[in-house]
Amino acid sequence: MGRAEPPGPARKYVLELGCGSHPAPNAQIGIDRDFAAVRAARASTACDRPGPVCLVADALRLPLADGSVSGVLARGMLHHILDLTAILREVRRVLEPGGTFTVVDAVPMPADRYAELCRYLQARGHPIEPRNGVDPAELGALAEVTGYTQADWEETGRWQHAGEAFTSPALTWTLRAGSGAS
Ligand SMILES: C[S@@+](CC[C@H](N)C(=O)[O-])C[C@H]1O[C@@H](n2cnc3c(N)ncnc32)[C@H](O)[C@@H]1O
Repeated sequence: MGRAEPPGPARKYVLELGCGSHPAPNAQIGIDRDFAAVRAARASTACDRPGPVCLVADALRLPLADGSVSGVLARGMLHHILDLTAILREVRRVLEPGGTFTVVDAVPMPADRYAELCRYLQARGHPIEPRNGVDPAELGALAEVTGYTQADWEETGRWQHAGEAFTSPALTWTLRAGSGAS
């Protein structure tokens, strides 16, 4: 299948995965699989302030050419993805060598607390978070086998899963794409 190029004249893009209705203002393209979120994101940025171009797309099947992006951001998104290997590979595919994948996400919470969170979300009709946070050791090991040369992280505040009812420490990872194929 052919892959469409994103709109705009530039060849290099900074892409946000799972931008939701509040895309990062410093992203150039935001994608989300949720049509309503993308519509809300477009409405919030279209009129009075410039913002990223927002598109409906699946982060596991990005509509971008190989090596076409210099930086990718995912905030609070990876804990919605069961197959971390698949998303790391797909992001590595679109990154140019030396490009960065910045991941901001929650670390796993105790199992009983996560079960409570799932019940809380379910009772309110919200989608369940299929992954209990992102484990630094797991992400580091997977980054190594999917074509990244570096996987640094630092603690950067707390992630709110469901308002203030459930929070856990948030980390920011910087993964650097290697020069070889993943
Ligand atoms: C917790 S929200 C975070 C939204 C935004 N990044 C923020 O920080 O407010 C996670 C978002 O990831 C999106 N998402 C989950 N899986 C996805 C996938 N496979 N492709 C694209 N978006 C996805 C969801 O639709 C949701 O909008």
